Amino acid sequence: MCLLHDTFEMRLSCFMFLVVAAALWPSARGNAPTNVSLPDLANSYWSDSGLKMPSKELVDAVNRAKLPLLDAFGHRREIVLMSIGSEFAFQRLFDVFLANLQNISFTGANGIQDNLARHIVVNVMTPGSAEKCAGLAAKYGCYCVSFANDAFTLGNFHVFSNDFYGIGFTKTATILDGLTLGVDVLFLDADQVFFRNPLPYLLAREADILVSGDCHNHGDATPMEKLPPINNNIGFVYFRPTAMATRAIYNWAMWLRNIAQRGEKPWDQTTFAGAIEWVSGEVSVRHLSMAMLHSDLFPYYCMGPCGCDLRGVPYFHNGRLPQRIPGTDCDPDLMREWYNYHMPCAGDMNMKSDLMEEYVRMYLRVIGPINSRSVPMTVLS
Ligand SMILES: *[C@@H]1O[C@H](CO)[C@@H](O)[C@H](O)[C@H]1NC(C)=O
Ligand SMILES: *[C@@H]1O[C@H](CO)[C@@H](O)[C@H](O)[C@H]1NC(C)=O
Repeated sequence: MCLLHDTFEMRLSCFMFLVVAAALWPSARGNAPTNVSLPDLANSYWSDSGLKMPSKELVDAVNRAKLPLLDAFGHRREIVLMSIGSEFAFQRLFDVFLANLQNISFTGANGIQDNLARHIVVNVMTPGSAEKCAGLAAKYGCYCVSFANDAFTLGNFHVFSNDFYGIGFTKTATILDGLTLGVDVLFLDADQVFFRNPLPYLLAREADILVSGDCHNHGDATPMEKLPPINNNIGFVYFRPTAMATRAIYNWAMWLRNIAQRGEKPWDQTTFAGAIEWVSGEVSVRHLSMAMLHSDLFPYYCMGPCGCDLRGVPYFHNGRLPQRIPGTDCDPDLMREWYNYHMPCAGDMNMKSDLMEEYVRMYLRVIGPINSRSVPMTVLS
């Protein structure tokens, strides 16, 4: 009906009607993508002199959240976990994610019991979600930082909506802000659960960038100039805060903005490998190195329900994707090695939450308590 009105007053009253309707009926903004303009959204992350600087709130949160650790080579590292969350993700997804990170406990400095939930910084993407995140912070000890953009939907970020592409601007800015502060960044999508502490594994590898990837037999101990020629998944990605890694992320963010400005779709996932390989190709592996994590240890749902089986698979070949007969569990010999299970390709955020809980139950049933197969790490003060 509103579309039929023509005069300014009528359009104004129509506009007011919609504003009131949206306020009284929150689901009016609910599940629909907002159809935000991608060039405008991209620009909102930039100032005239470059990408916007980290907020004081972010700087404080990173300083409080960072965890000083000894790596496998005897060096001190400071690592922070980072994630991003929107209104819909605070309905359930983050509660499962953080309850699970809290289960990954370890002995902290001075012998005090600590856990991973207390070392994650969450950038909150939607306005009005701050209190929900603050409630989780009170419960789990995580850190919430406002990174709100009015353009984002309060609903599910449907794949290939403009909101969905906009996640990439938030993700690159979040990673860059962490690296700029000189800490190691483990960026995690919130749609995953952990069974073992991944930090000792990451801190025993030398590459500047470690990312999860499709089911394929490759090494992850040697720092490489390129990733294996298969899909990576940046829902689990780790960076050392080197000058060149930081530069690579900055250039990646700029590339995404340029794509948006051309009127094309800027997808962080499909540009990531090109962005970092372009830099390592220019400056050599000495200045920027990378590796793809073993896919059988860091599985995700796009592979299938039981991850990746590399037993007997020749080097540099694709692995097998075991199926799961309804009512049965995955092979214990595969599950025993899992660090996490990540749930891309699994429907909306509430469906992902169900799956995350289901995989926790399966792990408890088949292997044992969450974190029972973690190895200790040395926390410094
Ligand atoms: C989204 O916005 C674009 C440009 O503003 C417009 O052409 C398109 O029709 C809109 N789509 C929807 C579904 O509203
Ligand atoms: C956390 O650990 C407890 C105790 O083993 C278990 O009951 C619970 O399901 C776990 N939850 C998650 C989300 O990992």
